[in-house]
Amino acid sequence: MKKIVTLVAVLGLSTLAMADAFTKCAGCHGAAGEKVALGKSKVISEMSKADVAAAIKGYKDGSYGGPMKGLMVAQVKDLTDADIAEITAKIGK
Ligand code: HEC
Repeated sequence: MKKIVTLVAVLGLSTLAMADAFTKCAGCHGAAGEKVALGKSKVISEMSKADVAAAIKGYKDGSYGGPMKGLMVAQVKDLTDADIAEITAKIGK
């Protein structure tokens, strides 16, 4: 029993370690940002890194977005600058 508990704890930690700021975005945008999210967004892996960062900051401050921006505001409102840097390190050209 103790072994199982330890195993679950280790697995849980490694899952956390693998999760980065983009993990929750992948469901809609694809693991590499390659999808058209909900049939509406641009393919964000095709955007420049600067444009991805500008879009995220724009959703946060209300200066960017299309018809579904309310949904994106909820996704990015708690991201820090470090999170945004982590995302643009992975997504964008
Ligand atoms: C529930 C699905 C969903 C999730 C989760 C989601 N997005 Fe989006 N994303 C969308 C949709 C839909 C749009 C288009 C919104 C609009 O009308 O402006 C969009 C737009 C964007 C855009 C701008 C592209 C464009 O079309 O102008 C960026 C950049 C982006 N998302 C990044 C992210 C990041 C980073 C995360 C995670 C923190 C995330 N998204 C999570 C659905 C999602």
